[in-house]
Amino acid sequence: MIPVILSGGSGSRLWPLSRKLYPKQFLALAGERTLFQQTLQRLGFDGIERPMVVCNQEHRFIVNEQLAGIGLAAQAVLLEPFGRNTAPAVAIAALRVLAEGRDELLLVLPADHVISNESGLRQALEIGRAAAEEGEMVLFGIPAERPETGFGYIKAAREGDGAALAPGALRVEQFVEKPDSVRATEFVRSGGYYWNSGMFLFRASRYLDELRSHEPDIYDTCVLALERSKGEREVLRIDPGTFECCPDNSIDYAVMEKTARACVVPLSAGWNDVGSWSSLWEVNAKDGDGNVLKGDVLSHDSHNCYVHGSSKLVTLLGMEDVVVVETRDAVMIAHKDKVQDVKKLVGTLDASG
Ligand code: GDD
Ligand code: MG
Repeated sequence: MIPVILSGGSGSRLWPLSRKLYPKQFLALAGERTLFQQTLQRLGFDGIERPMVVCNQEHRFIVNEQLAGIGLAAQAVLLEPFGRNTAPAVAIAALRVLAEGRDELLLVLPADHVISNESGLRQALEIGRAAAEEGEMVLFGIPAERPETGFGYIKAAREGDGAALAPGALRVEQFVEKPDSVRATEFVRSGGYYWNSGMFLFRASRYLDELRSHEPDIYDTCVLALERSKGEREVLRIDPGTFECCPDNSIDYAVMEKTARACVVPLSAGWNDVGSWSSLWEVNAKDGDGNVLKGDVLSHDSHNCYVHGSSKLVTLLGMEDVVVVETRDAVMIAHKDKVQDVKKLVGTLDASG
């Protein structure tokens, strides 16, 4: 089983700490190691090969430094000239593995999640491995508790309806990526839905067969881009001229919504995608007032806040449920309920140059 670590996202909802040049996966946001390093460190068990990392070429030095920091060498670092989202990123990794004459299982992992219960993860991976070896496209699902719109939703067949493929793996009836809030609310109310954790397990050739039949343009462009790529054995630069023509799409829309042969393994592993400041507040240790205070921060009569000071003293008085993030060149203050919109804020900033 080869871990394929997707580390090409920009993490804009965690602005102003997460930046294009230094996105959230490379920051130590929950613990001493960065999220990227924690992702790799939790894979130290039998049957798991050295990882392949797919990232933006601008981040190659950060990736090397962070791998060295935990004493690990990747089997390959695949450098994208620009992001074309996760469907092409996984395709390049799968094609590369097949080009070496090995049709291995690929464990596709986001580089920016927190998983607090590693034995729960191991158990789920063991169940998933058996199903992937049988040719399944395996998803790992978290019981959907709230109508979050930032996740994929997996409808599992009910146990007893011929749903259990192997103990612990259920047939997927439907996969819906990022439904609107009306649909998400319906899904949570009706029960039997899981959030997609963003981790996938399948054989390299199975993924490519699915991609070729559902998104032939992505498949064909990735084949060409890999043929024209340059590099040594371990570091590969994907050809920009070819990759530029690749449609931008995520694995979720391109393949998981369309495949007829997927199963879901429920994951009970303290998963959190740390997608926003409020989820970072959730995963970090709090003081007696429910505040997470990082850096030089003084708070009084304030509750359930997330405050991050980088270069100045930050003081808080009588505040509830706010996020304050101070960096050298920007300060962001938001209500905890509004932090999903930080992405829009960053979009406005980008547009205004
Ligand atoms: N190499 C590479 N290239 N990696 C990328 C790219 C890219 O162009 N775009 C995103 N990634 C990486 C991100 O860094 C992250 O680790 C992972 O791929 C997932 O991308 P996100 O952009 O964070 O996806 P998402 O959070 O909107 O949605 C996905 O994750 C959810 C769970 O957190 C989907 O899989 C959802 O269905 C899922 O619920
Ligand atoms: Mg994400």
